Amino acid sequence: MIYLDNAATTPVNPQVAQVISDSLHNSFANPSSLYSRGATSEIEMNKARGFIAGCIGAKDKELYFTSCASESNNIAIYGLALARKNWGKKIITTGYEHPAVRQPCANLAEMGFETVLIDPDKNGIVDENAIVDAVDSKTGLVTLIHVNNETGAKLDIERLANRIKEKNPRCAIHIDAVQSFMKFPLDVKKLKIESLSFSAHKINGPKGIGGLYLKQGTNIKPVFVGGGQESGLRAGTENIHYIQGLAKACEILKPNLIRNLQHYAKLRTQLLDGLKAFDNVVINSPENAAPYTVNFSFVGYRSETLLHFLDSKGICVSSGSACSKGSASHTLTVMKLPHERIDSSVRVSFGVQNTEEDVVALLTALKEATEKLQKVKR
Ligand SMILES: Cc1ncc(COP(=O)(O)O)c(C=O)c1O
Repeated sequence: MIYLDNAATTPVNPQVAQVISDSLHNSFANPSSLYSRGATSEIEMNKARGFIAGCIGAKDKELYFTSCASESNNIAIYGLALARKNWGKKIITTGYEHPAVRQPCANLAEMGFETVLIDPDKNGIVDENAIVDAVDSKTGLVTLIHVNNETGAKLDIERLANRIKEKNPRCAIHIDAVQSFMKFPLDVKKLKIESLSFSAHKINGPKGIGGLYLKQGTNIKPVFVGGGQESGLRAGTENIHYIQGLAKACEILKPNLIRNLQHYAKLRTQLLDGLKAFDNVVINSPENAAPYTVNFSFVGYRSETLLHFLDSKGICVSSGSACSKGSASHTLTVMKLPHERIDSSVRVSFGVQNTEEDVVALLTALKEATEKLQKVKR
């Protein structure tokens, strides 16, 4: 199988699986229990917490474990917005967020918040000035996706956060870093942000574990309440096994971030060069997109038909995002691309395991598709 859908999820690294398996056997005690086995679990969990926090320049106590990034986004967005509702009912976000940000913002709008959406242009780029211009004294929260999951479009969050805080130092900034965590170097100490979310299954870790960085001293209303775990921010017995797996996944990637980015850039160039041979291909990702995500339209062929054809050749790619199962790509729709481009869009997303041979196989299969598949009649 040639797996080219790493923005949807990634294969679990065998070393990560081994750590989880060992932990399942050895670390069953509840980290909240007072006897020594419980204390050992707590120590192990906090060792993992410290390591993961260190990967993004955070302090140990600024890192909270959740079950996934959707949960992290919900905890941050509701919690930060509700804590500022008395003075800051305006929320600013992009028009191309993941549903795990879009939906909480839409719900808050129904609860009386004002939500301002800044859409990307037809090239997939969100205008930084438009975000900053929208910030005023009533803005309680700005929530931004770092790297878009469908096109790889990337925001300069350091510059944006500086500009936003210059206009309104009280407003909170949340970053959805699911598609950039452990891919681009991130140092929260340099970012004037309050929170940042990420997920293990995008970095060769297991599904079912995520994280939230929350700057120390940030005012937030806990919305996930119960037994007081995770300093009262996220109730529920911590998944120590997956936490240790997440730490291992980070440990594997940490020394190789730059090398991996170079590897992705090479594969991206190879793919883009190869796609030039097709006169029906239009690239939908911006030029300065993250190198591991390439979105293009194979105009004249329906995405689903192409996907199934590639699947029959053992190649996995995606049309838009995995979460939107078959529905039209949200990002390409807000980019206002013509229907024939949206309906024929394909997302290729590289992972650390991909090789130049994988790209050759994809290009060969695409060539075969043009010979074997019926074009859509318009
Ligand atoms: C940008 C972005 N945010 C949030 C999520 C949700 O992550 P999880 O699957 O961990 O809930 C995803 C998953 O695709 C994503 O790509």
